[in-house]
Amino acid sequence: MALPPLGFGTATSSYQIEGAVDADGRGPSIWDTFCRVPGAVADASDGTIACDSYRRLDEDLTLLDDLGVSAYRFSVAWPRIQPTGRGAVEPRGLDYYERLVDGLLARDIRPFPTLYHWDLPQPLEDMGGWPARDTALRFADYAGLVAERLGDRVPAWATMNEPWCTAFLGYAAGVHAPGRREPEAAYAAAHHLLLGHALGRAAVQAAVPTADVGIVLNLAPVRGEAGAHGDAVDVVDAVQNRIWLDALADGSYPAALLRRSAALTDDGVVRADDLSAIRGSADWLGVNYYTPLRLGPARSPGSGAGQVALAYPGAPAFAFQPRVPTTDMGWEIDATGMVDVLLTAAERLPGVPLRVTENGAAFPDAHHGPDGAVRDDDRIAYLAGHLDAVQEVRAAGAPVLDYFAWSLLDNFEWAEGYRKTFGLVAFDNRTQARTAKASFHWYADRIRN
Ligand code: FCB
Repeated sequence: MALPPLGFGTATSSYQIEGAVDADGRGPSIWDTFCRVPGAVADASDGTIACDSYRRLDEDLTLLDDLGVSAYRFSVAWPRIQPTGRGAVEPRGLDYYERLVDGLLARDIRPFPTLYHWDLPQPLEDMGGWPARDTALRFADYAGLVAERLGDRVPAWATMNEPWCTAFLGYAAGVHAPGRREPEAAYAAAHHLLLGHALGRAAVQAAVPTADVGIVLNLAPVRGEAGAHGDAVDVVDAVQNRIWLDALADGSYPAALLRRSAALTDDGVVRADDLSAIRGSADWLGVNYYTPLRLGPARSPGSGAGQVALAYPGAPAFAFQPRVPTTDMGWEIDATGMVDVLLTAAERLPGVPLRVTENGAAFPDAHHGPDGAVRDDDRIAYLAGHLDAVQEVRAAGAPVLDYFAWSLLDNFEWAEGYRKTFGLVAFDNRTQARTAKASFHWYADRIRN
């Protein structure tokens, strides 16, 4: 079957770009709270102003238009729609996303909203957060409210962005909001994120029966270096990739995790019909790919795995050993990993359309030309190599429909603050002025041709 031409887009998320955290009735999110914890964010910054995109919507729409993308992935901030995470809708929040969607459609750009990109309303965290089942039910209510307003103009939705990060960075390693270090709660969170996805999809489709509802996973091939413990490779792969893919494909969780996690074998957490609701619930799958995970032996017993070890209780000690070259995040650059994850996804979910919902690289962007232009050749090389990988996978028959570069703008990179820059467009922290980088012009050319 011939695939349609690859769609080209770019991606952002609400807390990373919008700012305006007190505007129009928005309630507090767990990231507002987490950023105030001393040491939580590398440069002690937060998303209070960010790229000011809430107020500079027209400017960003013009950038997208100039870039020539056919699709834009953004996220809806739950605390703008329901300031306390439940109950009545805040219409001014919906108005903003309606202006965004209409602005995209007027420019022939397909809108791809993600309903949850990590900004959980703080009151829901106060009631237990994702380890509590109720959060999944509240998410479904919220998803339905957004779909009722925007569903006539939005054919494809994503529910969760990277549930691995929410569950394991947020509730086990504690390096993302809400900063808890409770490995068993993290497994309960993982299950409730999948359940929330399935219930959220049903709510969107109750409002708009034709809607295509997917979920976005950050998949990564796990590669064992010489001396790496085989069990470590298996467990890391299970937590990173199979917990999500197995649940969506077969309605099961990997044996390696059932042996280790009490939450996943607790029938009070994983209730009778949950897994059958999750099985088959991805109308499409978003894949975020940045880097492979390369594991070596821990350099000394009990060390080396660092914070991430908390995410894998009972796993043998291991250390991440990225090979050079790496990006500014310390992430190994290897486009063959993109091929691997997309082929794995296509094999595990046959017939399910795939989209690369994020791919990109942070580099210091120090090379400013005489005209102030940013010469980011390293970013161009990264994107070009990964786009080739996507074409290779499509040629092999995997149904990859769209590719979204992360990110339109430099933005608030979570626990790294503003120092790690992924944008095609630079922005000045003091003035919020936007300047297209060389990669922006390169991507625009690539789209045109
Ligand atoms: C992903 C996130 C996204 C961005 C990139 C660099 O994990 O989904 O918000 O921070 O990494």
